[in-house]
Order: sequence, then C-alpha cells, then structure tokens
Amino acid sequence: MKRILAVCLLALLSNIGFAEAGSGKDLKKKQGILLVTFGTSYADAQLAFENIEDRVEKAFPGVSIRWAYTSKMIRKKLAKSGQIIDSPAEALAKMGEDGFTDVAVQSLHIIPGEEYENLEKTVAAFNGMPKGTERVLLGKPLLFSHQDNENLASIIDDKFEDEVSKKTALVMMGHGTHHQANIYYPGFQYYLNQRSDRYFLGTVEGFPELSEVVKRFKDSSIKRVVLTPFMSVAGDHAQNDMAGDDSDSWKSILEKEGFKVKIVQKGLAEYDQVVDIWVEHLKEVYYKL
Ligand code: CO
Repeated sequence: MKRILAVCLLALLSNIGFAEAGSGKDLKKKQGILLVTFGTSYADAQLAFENIEDRVEKAFPGVSIRWAYTSKMIRKKLAKSGQIIDSPAEALAKMGEDGFTDVAVQSLHIIPGEEYENLEKTVAAFNGMPKGTERVLLGKPLLFSHQDNENLASIIDDKFEDEVSKKTALVMMGHGTHHQANIYYPGFQYYLNQRSDRYFLGTVEGFPELSEVVKRFKDSSIKRVVLTPFMSVAGDHAQNDMAGDDSDSWKSILEKEGFKVKIVQKGLAEYDQVVDIWVEHLKEVYYKL
C-alpha cells in the first residue's frame, strides 16, 4: 500500500514537473510589433507615423511597438541629424536580443512592390533565429486583396466626394514602380471610377504618368483639379514633385495647361480609416503568433 502510494506520488510529481516544463516555455514567449515604412526625412510628415502608432497602440494595448524604415537613403539622411532609425533587419535583431520570441511585422507600404518583397525576405530570415526571434510574421501592405481596394476606394470617396463635380477632378499622386506590382495603380483607378469618373490616379515613377491623366480629361468639362498624395505621408514627392513651385511639378504643369489647382497636402496615413486597413492586416498576423 505504501509502495503504491509512493509510486502514485512519484507519478503525480513527475506530472507536475512536465506541466511546469510545458508552461515554462509559454512563459518565456514575448510578443511584439514592428512597424515598417519606407520612411521620410520630413519632420511634418513623421506626424502621420505618430497617428499610425496611436491607432496600433489602441488596437494592441500594452504590446511593445517598434519602428524600422526600409529606405537606406532616408536612414542615412536622418542619421546625419542624429536621428538613428533601424533597418528591418537591425530592428528584428535587437528585438531578438531583447527577448522577443514572436514578432508581428506590419508593412506600411501601399502596394506589394519591391520594398515589400525585400521585407518578406528579411522576415523569413528571422524565423527560427538561434538565440533570437523564433516566429516572425508579416502583415500585408495597404492594397493587397480585392477587399482592400474596395475599402480604400470607399474611404477616398467619403473624403473627396464633396470636392469633385462636373468641373472639378481629384488627381492623386502615387509613387509608381518598375516592379510588376505597379499594376495596382491602374487597377485602383478602376475601383475609384466605380465611385466617380472624376477620380484620377497618376504616378511619379511608374504608369500612368500625369500626361496620361491629363489626356483623359482635357477635352471634357474639367476646369479645376484637387491634387493630393496617394502615399502614406506627404513627404518629399508630395512637397516638391506634386505641389512645388518648379516648372516640372504637377501643380505647375496643370496650371500651365489652364487648370485651377487646389492642394490637399495630407498623406494617406493621416486618415484614421486608412490606417485601420493596415491595423486589420496586422491583426491577421498578430493573432497567429
Ligand atoms: Co521616390
């Protein structure tokens, strides 16, 4: 009888031991969020990033949030003025060192282009990093699925439907890329046109260019243009290529063509509803950790 009791006790103790070992591993699990943007060197434009951080904090109370910029050029420029910002790889290495085992990385890019693709490679490399991060997942950029396009087009329509009319068009300036994901720009134009034929999207470095956009409304009754960035922040391209006073800015070109131009200098990340699309993408991966 005593012996049976001893065996039972032993079994019980070893079970407790197993349970502790099992939950001990879970106790070590530390989750964090890394927000990744192309970056901007414009202090005013960085305010848009603060808005993103506020929305993410609200959605994930108490979770550590860190930042990284994918643009090396911008990181170097900021470092000269003493502002040190990590690359995604640097940020993930530091998080591993600081004991984070599970990290949800959120891409704050607009399309799944080159910057996003590079980030996918970095994220893959940090999965199962010895003595570092164990699990790292990547949230989709602003436009990925059909639903993302629908959602963004509705938000833009809500914000700008009162600005456009028979005589007034909205022209948004996207970045554009040589990457095949540039198709998202003409693709999104279709979603915009389902709401109004007065919405236009052009790009600085891809297709369609501004000249293509102007061709489309030159013979119509459009006399005025509302010009706004289709980028996360109103940074360098928005300030100079879009709204600058140089003769090759979109504002100057449109004015020379005879249009009255109104500038709405606001990046997409300044609209809470837009930020919430990124936040939803972040939730999709965070809850899989
Ligand atoms: Co650029």
